[in-house]
Amino acid sequence: MTQEDASLEARLEEQEQFEPPESFVEQANVSDPGVYEEFEENWPECWERAADLLSWDSEYDTVLEDGDAPFYEWFTGGELNASYNCLDRHVEEGAKNRAAIKWEGELGETRTYTYGDLLNEVEAFAATLRDLGVEEDDVVTLYMPMVPELPIAMLACARIGAPHSVVFAGFSADALATRMNSADSEYLVTCDGYYRRGDALDHISKTNEGLEDVDHEVSDVVVVDRLGDALDHSLSANQHDYDDLVDEHAGASVEPVSRDAEDMLFLMYTSGTTGQPKGVKHTTGGYLAYTAWTSQAVLDVKPEDTYWCSADIGWITGHSYIVYGPLALGTTTVMYEGTPDYPEKDRLWEIVEKNRVDIFYTAPTAIRAFMKWGKQYPERYDLSSLRLLGTVGEPINPRAWKWYYQHIGNEDCPVVDTWWQTETGGMMITTLPGINTMKPGSAGPPLPGIGAKVVDANGEEVDAGQAGYVMVDKPWPGMLRTLYQNDDRFITEYWQEYSDEDADEWTYFPEDGAKIDDDGYITILGRVDDVVNVSGHRLGTMEIESAVVGVEGIAEAAVVGGDHEIKGEAVYVYAIPEDGYDAGDELAERAIQGVVDSIGPIAKPEEVIFTPELPKTRSGKIMRRLLEDIASGNELGNTSTLRNPDVVDDIAEQAESN
Ligand code: PRX
Repeated sequence: MTQEDASLEARLEEQEQFEPPESFVEQANVSDPGVYEEFEENWPECWERAADLLSWDSEYDTVLEDGDAPFYEWFTGGELNASYNCLDRHVEEGAKNRAAIKWEGELGETRTYTYGDLLNEVEAFAATLRDLGVEEDDVVTLYMPMVPELPIAMLACARIGAPHSVVFAGFSADALATRMNSADSEYLVTCDGYYRRGDALDHISKTNEGLEDVDHEVSDVVVVDRLGDALDHSLSANQHDYDDLVDEHAGASVEPVSRDAEDMLFLMYTSGTTGQPKGVKHTTGGYLAYTAWTSQAVLDVKPEDTYWCSADIGWITGHSYIVYGPLALGTTTVMYEGTPDYPEKDRLWEIVEKNRVDIFYTAPTAIRAFMKWGKQYPERYDLSSLRLLGTVGEPINPRAWKWYYQHIGNEDCPVVDTWWQTETGGMMITTLPGINTMKPGSAGPPLPGIGAKVVDANGEEVDAGQAGYVMVDKPWPGMLRTLYQNDDRFITEYWQEYSDEDADEWTYFPEDGAKIDDDGYITILGRVDDVVNVSGHRLGTMEIESAVVGVEGIAEAAVVGGDHEIKGEAVYVYAIPEDGYDAGDELAERAIQGVVDSIGPIAKPEEVIFTPELPKTRSGKIMRRLLEDIASGNELGNTSTLRNPDVVDDIAEQAESN
């Protein structure tokens, strides 16, 4: 490091607050600090501002219908189509030749779809789906990697009013079957395979394996041919080649179906406290308005921008901020198929330079990896096109924030640390880049109109500096409406009712711990339920546990998250072997493979620690916190309340020796 670099780093290390650059503020979509008050004073009508970003087939009557809380409804009476809003209207307004999607394959091939091209392709695929028999409200499952056909299929579903349920391609065959069963989904769009670190990965075999466990008839499966000759595979009777079908329907015109604002746009399964994933339901009006508004206000997206979110569309971040938000605003959205270190650790920066990317949105885990690889990789490229940087998915440590700000943003770009969830549909807590001071490590204040607070176990707001729980005391348009076919679980998982003299108040609990400071900035501390966050990916420890105990030779298991330098958290398994089984590498390997088979490689345990007993309270509950501390190498607290305190030392010793 040169002396100049060292003094710059030392200065940044000291600095706790950063102001948005003047040049950014001057051009920001939202730069008037009065916006907070405006939303506060005019709530809920303030949300018309979000709805106004969309084109409605018929105007809504009521902004918020709260008669049946917490089953809130937004923009009721209004009708619209999401695909029309993301495509047709931009074409009608003269943007036919503007790039909508710029796709880059891992091997370096590129494809650009203008808004005109994308509309044609979406219409052809919408006509295909209709011909296959897909009707309005049928759930279509999309088990696809980062290929352009994924957003095309999403928009085609939206066009004909068929909700999609995207299953992350990295999930296992089991996970696909569970989700198709839960949604009674009879149609599937999938892919033969995709590239990872230069290798052609077989996706179709995994798909077929999953289909064997679907408990109802699957009418049709459409298979995108991504790999060509790199993978030989045959199609069974109800499987069709995507290109053949789309060629047959080329030039088709499919009128976008007018959907009620509250009609389901999509389902997205996410992990919770039980082994069963939750089917989060998002709607057409509220969700689209909310993602468009937050893309405009927080990501500062403008139609002439090239915007890149490096998430996978298989997660909510990709739905909201690769597909729906950016396309609703008519901008150019970049999609990259592969990993950031293939063929070299500079791949992302090469893509930024080549496409003159204006806005870049990624996860802290990626930033920590960039940091570890070193600044020489971004330094090879001209990143001066960047105007704004964002992060999402997990807490960002101030060091990583500053590295991002300095080495990617050249101290010229605001960084927005955006807190939100699958359930919230869009961002909830973050600075507005054209207005607020940034404090690395703290997401920021709640967005205008968002009633996020930090409360103690009694629901009372905590003092500045004290830890508590995030709670949201007002509904917002992007919120989930329910868990698919499970209204009871929706209430018990998320809502608490408080009655006062005037009214019944419902509050939403996201299950995150947090602190708040004197300026109302919220620092997220992490999940307070049995969910781990590995590289920004949300996984249920119960799901992993049931995979581990499904392995022959394992009697009992407890799964926890432990600190990890790059991933944020990693999965640790504590397992009791069955009598007659050797607690050795072979059993550990099988336990790990059991998790990979049942969920996918993202859930792969970092370590399996065998123990004759798990630490339990006198009432028989596993002391997970203690296991988390062991996994993270933390000081262990008081163990005297345990039924079996001795076991803790044994486990800690064992973990250390591994
Ligand atoms: O714990 C919070 C963490 O990710 C959880 C939501 O995960 P998921 O539904 O998969 O959505 C991820 C992408 C929106 C939250 O409960 N989380 C998300 N963003 C942040 C965060 N933790 C800290 N800071 C963030 N910016």
